[in-house]
Amino acid sequence: MSRIVETIAPHGGHLVNRVATAAERDEFMARASHLPRVRLDERALSDLIMIAIGGYSPLNGFMNQEDYERVVEEMRLKNGLPWSLPITLSVSEEVAENLKEGSWVRLDDEKGRFVGVLELTQKYRYNKAHEAINVYRTDDEKHPGVQVLYQQGEVNLAGPIWLLQREPHPMFPQYQIDPAQSRRMFVERGWKTVVGFQTRNPIHRAHEYIIKCAMEIVDGLFLHPLVGATKSDDIPADVRMRCYEIMIEKYFPKNRVILAINPCAMRYAGPREAIFHALIRKNYGCTHFIVGRDHAGVGDYYGTYDAQKIFDEFAPEEIGIIPLKFEHAFWCTVTQQMATSKTSPATPEQRIHLSGTKVREMLRRGELPPPEFSRPEVAAELARAMHQ
Ligand code: ADX
Repeated sequence: MSRIVETIAPHGGHLVNRVATAAERDEFMARASHLPRVRLDERALSDLIMIAIGGYSPLNGFMNQEDYERVVEEMRLKNGLPWSLPITLSVSEEVAENLKEGSWVRLDDEKGRFVGVLELTQKYRYNKAHEAINVYRTDDEKHPGVQVLYQQGEVNLAGPIWLLQREPHPMFPQYQIDPAQSRRMFVERGWKTVVGFQTRNPIHRAHEYIIKCAMEIVDGLFLHPLVGATKSDDIPADVRMRCYEIMIEKYFPKNRVILAINPCAMRYAGPREAIFHALIRKNYGCTHFIVGRDHAGVGDYYGTYDAQKIFDEFAPEEIGIIPLKFEHAFWCTVTQQMATSKTSPATPEQRIHLSGTKVREMLRRGELPPPEFSRPEVAAELARAMHQ
C-alpha cells in the first residue's frame, strides 16, 4: 500500500524547481559564450538559488513590473497571492541598455563563474524612495535594507531563471537541506506539524524558551538559521552554526530537531520580512512559524510587535502557515526561569534581558554573558570566536 504523503502545500500550490537538468545544463553551457552577462552580487545569487530550489515558490524568476508594483503597494502578486518583499534583479542603465527583452542572459557569480540563466522578458525602471517607504517603512539611508536598495542599479531585469547546478554549500554542506528534501524528512519522521525558526543571531535563552514553548505543541522543530548576507556587525554564520550545534548536542532532544541553513539574505524589513520568512518556511514544509519580538527588525524602525500584527492583514488561509507569536522573553528573577509578561509576576527591575549590542560589548571587554542570558557553552564559544 502506498503511503499517503501529508505535507502542507507550498505557497501557490506547487513547489518550483528551476535547477537545470544535466541536458539543459549542457545546452546552456554550449550557448553561454554567446550570451550577454550579468554579474550577481551575494544577495542576487542567494535569490537565484532560493527561486531555483523552490524556497520562493510560486516565483520562478525575478519579478516583472506588475508583480513588483503590486507587491510594493499591496503585498500581493499580480494573481492576488500574498507576497511581501520584492525579489528583483537590478542593474545599471549601461548594463540594461545592452540587454534585449526576449533574449537570454548569462548569470555569473561574483567570481565570474557561470551559475544561471535568465530568460529576459522585461526591463523596467522603478522608484527607490517609494519602494523604501512601502517596504521598509522608512527612506532613511542608515537603515541597512534601504542602504542596499539605494546602492543597487536603476533598472530591474525580469523573467524566469534556471540555476545551472545545485552545488554543496562551501561552509555547511551537511546542513544544506532544500525544500523538497525537508518535506521528505518531515514525512519520514512522521511529523505532521513542524515549527520553523528563523534567526540571524547566536542562540540565547529567550530564543531557546520560545522555541521550546512552540515545540510543546508540534511534532518537530525545523531550526533554520539564515546564512546569506547580513550586515557587517552581525555575528558570522559559522559562529552561529557552532552555537546551534552545541545547543542541540546538550539542550534539545535530537530526534525532534532538524538543523538546516536558510541561504537567504537579510533585508531587515521587520514586519514585511516576517511574512516573507513565514512563506519561505511554508515552502520548506513547516506548518507553524515563530514570530517573536521585533522579528527581522533593526534599530528603532519598527514597533516591538509590528511583525506580529501584520499577519492580521491577511486571511489565515491565504498565508497557510500558522504564526506562533511570542512576547518579549526574559529571565524572571522571582520564579528563576525564562518567562514573558504573560507568565511572570516580576516587575521590570526583576527581569534580566540583554540586547545583542550589550552582549557584544561584554564579549569585547572579555566578560562572558551571564547564564540568565546565554547557556555557558554558547557564551564560551562566542568569547572564543570574538578573540580568535
Ligand atoms: S531575526 O532578525 O532573525 O528576527 P533574531 O535571530 O534575534 O533576529 O530572532 C529570531 C527570532 O526570535 C525572531 O522571531 C525574534 O522575534 C525572536 N526573538 C529574539 N529575541 C527575543 C526575545 N527576547 N523575546 C521574544 N522573542 C525574541
